Amino acid sequence: MVKVKTVYICNSCAYETPKWAGKCPECGSWNSFEETEIRPSQQQKGASREHNSPRLLSEGTDTPDIRIVSGINEFDRVLGGGVFPGSVSLIAGDPGIGKSTLLLQVSGEFVKKNKKVLYVSAEESFRQIRGRAKRLELIDFPLPLLVETELEEILFQIEQQDPDVVIIDSIQAVFSQNVSGAPGNVSQIRECSSRLFRTAKEKGWSLFLVGHITKEGSIAGPKILEHMVDVVIYFEGDSLYQYRILRSLKNRYGPTHELGLFLMDQEGLKEVQNPSQLFISHTEEIRTGASITCSFEGSRPILVEVQALVSRTNYGIPQRTVSGFDQKKLALILAILEKHCGLNFSFYDVFIKIAGGLRIDDPGIDLSIAAAIHSSLVNQPLEAKAVFIGEIGLNGDVRPVSQMDRRIEEAVKLGFNRVFMPEINLHKIKKIGVDQIHSIKTISALINQKNSHQRTRVSETL
Ligand code: TYD
Ligand code: MG
Repeated sequence: MVKVKTVYICNSCAYETPKWAGKCPECGSWNSFEETEIRPSQQQKGASREHNSPRLLSEGTDTPDIRIVSGINEFDRVLGGGVFPGSVSLIAGDPGIGKSTLLLQVSGEFVKKNKKVLYVSAEESFRQIRGRAKRLELIDFPLPLLVETELEEILFQIEQQDPDVVIIDSIQAVFSQNVSGAPGNVSQIRECSSRLFRTAKEKGWSLFLVGHITKEGSIAGPKILEHMVDVVIYFEGDSLYQYRILRSLKNRYGPTHELGLFLMDQEGLKEVQNPSQLFISHTEEIRTGASITCSFEGSRPILVEVQALVSRTNYGIPQRTVSGFDQKKLALILAILEKHCGLNFSFYDVFIKIAGGLRIDDPGIDLSIAAAIHSSLVNQPLEAKAVFIGEIGLNGDVRPVSQMDRRIEEAVKLGFNRVFMPEINLHKIKKIGVDQIHSIKTISALINQKNSHQRTRVSETL
């Protein structure tokens, strides 16, 4: 008889213990342990082991990596130039953001390039997916679709079909008979993903797992899922906006923090050719509390607009609200402005927003945030056609940023002709196509010239 082992697994971090506990010793969650039966699989029992001995690196041969390219540039770039054969990628996003649409479109492109694809849907019916494919004009392409939730059957069918690319939509809806519990619980996700992962690596299929996101914004299921896969991609967007962002957080075969931009319309997802135009509203108009910066996202520069509203507070504690970057960054910039520029925000609410709903981690937007805050505080517009690029240090210095040439080039392309930038970056710039460069050493140099209403250059103009 097969001996069944019972363990308790934490629902939030997948910590395993033989005894139930009220609080997880690993992540501190309360009441998160779930009883799970683990049955040893048939192969594990009594199967003779094949040994694997170490090899020298010099023994290997240099085979070129032939990636599977979909032709959808925004998708291929995020993966590092196409799908790496035998790689396992996790695509996570909120429900309804367009994960199934994206993967169906990508599958269609692979099929057009004579690649064998198997689309496994564990969530939607054949009819639903057919309806979507019809909308995407993919109905006439030979794209096999398997509607199945049981892992053992999925693995059997994949082996029968022997495809180049397998899509599992979604990993949370698949369940294995070897593990107890409903689909989507930690032990089910762990078992299903690890078996799919192992088989994909053995057979060389490229595997895409669709993952759901929890209320807190992280991928549902054990953290081990993210550690195991080769590529972790988030598909994000705001339901109020049409555009969708594909962002790589981990990539063993390419760069991380790469962005892919799409617009969702009636015929599915369309690539965005010129992202900068999407995120800035006007280049000509002068407005109070709005400044333009050029952020570097992955391998390309994108112009974005920082909007600030500084208004007298009506409550005891002034409000600090941020959308589009880390809240702590705002606290830091306000503290720097108070300490080094003599400003006081104690009686002001400060609201900051990156226009268009984009989320940015690039420190190069600091200068733009400070400029927008100051503009709103003193109620004076910033210069027209100006971009602000630079990181601000704790001591008030404006610190250099990477890829300044390319940032300026992008700004010039969109009609900007004034650049406020760190002085240290100045000597590194090779080609300047801007009318005015304002090199800035410290944040107070930028703010104080505005306080005295001088419209002269901060420093030497090239
Ligand atoms: P879907 O791919 O089902 O999202 P997910 O798999 O992430 O849950 O996409 C759902 C949304 O996309 C839905 O609200 C309808 C919309 N949509 C379009 O706007 N245009 C289209 O061509 C398609 C196929 C979907
Ligand atoms: Mg879906």
